[in-house]
Amino acid sequence: MLVSVIDIHQKKIVINSIITIKGWVKSKRSSKLGICFIHLYDGSHLSPVQIIANKKLFNYENEILMLTTGCSIIVTGKLVDSFGKKQKVEIFALNIKVIGWIENPNQYPLSLKKHTNEYLRSVSHLRSRSNFIGSVSRIRNCLFQSLHAFLNSKKYYWVPTPIITAINAEGAGDMFKVSTFDFSKTPKKKSGEVDFSKDFFGKETFLTVSGQLTLETYACSMSKVYTFGPTFRAENSNTKRHLSEFWMLEVEASFFDLSDLIKLVKKIFKHSIKVVLNSCISEIMFFEKKYNLKIINKLEKVLSEKIIEVEYSEIIQILKKSKKSFSNSVFFGLDLNSEHEKYIVDTYFDSPVIIKNFPKEIKAFYMRLNKDNKTVASIDMLVPGIGEIVGGSQREERIEILDDRFFELKLNKKNYWWYRDLRKYGTVPHSGFGLGFERLLQYITGISNIKDAIPFPRTIRNSQF
Ligand code: 4AD
Ligand code: MG
Repeated sequence: MLVSVIDIHQKKIVINSIITIKGWVKSKRSSKLGICFIHLYDGSHLSPVQIIANKKLFNYENEILMLTTGCSIIVTGKLVDSFGKKQKVEIFALNIKVIGWIENPNQYPLSLKKHTNEYLRSVSHLRSRSNFIGSVSRIRNCLFQSLHAFLNSKKYYWVPTPIITAINAEGAGDMFKVSTFDFSKTPKKKSGEVDFSKDFFGKETFLTVSGQLTLETYACSMSKVYTFGPTFRAENSNTKRHLSEFWMLEVEASFFDLSDLIKLVKKIFKHSIKVVLNSCISEIMFFEKKYNLKIINKLEKVLSEKIIEVEYSEIIQILKKSKKSFSNSVFFGLDLNSEHEKYIVDTYFDSPVIIKNFPKEIKAFYMRLNKDNKTVASIDMLVPGIGEIVGGSQREERIEILDDRFFELKLNKKNYWWYRDLRKYGTVPHSGFGLGFERLLQYITGISNIKDAIPFPRTIRNSQF
């Protein structure tokens, strides 16, 4: 019977069964009594399984004793109760086949030594072999699957929105260009400008910064939809919370106002925490130890408390009254910087916070104008240690007001003709949000640098492979 490490830890295998297991050597220790203890992992669980190999195995001297960390093996043996204290069961090996050796074990980049996170990033093709990145990967997978399952259970349809796009969904910000031009001889118009009509798509195209606008088209027919994919930003931010390529969950629902949206954000956030606590507790305990943080307490506290909602205007008052001196002065209209966000969530509230109704000047064109004509029906959710993890709003469904916003922001409304069509043909109040998936992972696990929350991080001047 072929089994995996997690089957054994979850007690799915009856004692005395003869089983086969495939994986890699985590560590090996041999005793003088002709017994060798091998810890084998296969990625399915944080804790390896112990294999007992004795000298009766035909390849004991020539192969088993030569095994080093990282070798791949297939073991057939009997699952038995362990005499040792560190594990309940172990496998008494009847046969061990060595599949792959480690070339120059002394130079193996993932030997048993403790490695720093920075070092692991320099070997990102091997780092998933470490307990750290293995644990992140299992939690990431669990969270991803559970978000799909949650939305599916609430009858949201999954709509994959395009990655290549001709519009800037946020109306501003730097985008990566997509082109098949030979940059040494780009076709030019008479005016000297690049002639994108000769490019692959016949116009200038980019990698998307958000699937929101195209997602809205489906929300205006399927009612409740979401998209979940890679998103690209060419911003020059080399921080612990910025990636150039990150994953975003974007949800959009018709007949939803801002308060419906806030309820949904809270539900999804708490659901994510619950799922990880229920399904990945060994990994979370590993992170508690690694970062010396009380992660479980923090998460349980979030689950048991109401998530705070505060008006943007109140946030400005809180910042003004604080004794802290900020390098950027505080006024109504300020686009909160990380120093302000930090004060609000880390110091003042010490918990996640949803800020709502921001001034229209600092938000995108599509957010719905409030009655005060000054603010838009928007939210940002901030969490301690990271800052913003969710951005969302009710969308402007009134075409005249949308057109005014295009005008104010000097955006060419012709480029948004199809977006305007949604407001012309059966317009409907609708709302949506975007959740930064890696930032959510960072918050739940305590991972300090976002580069460790994604398998192959892309940041400014860094794109290994
Ligand atoms: O606040 P943002 O820019 O919102 C939008 O893009 C909306 N169109 C979403 C929507 O309403 N459908 O981005 C949403 C979230 C942020 O709150 C943050 O968590 C994450 O995306 N994010 C990043 N994560 C990692 N690296 C970056 N460079 C990020 N930029 C935004
Ligand atoms: Mg935002």
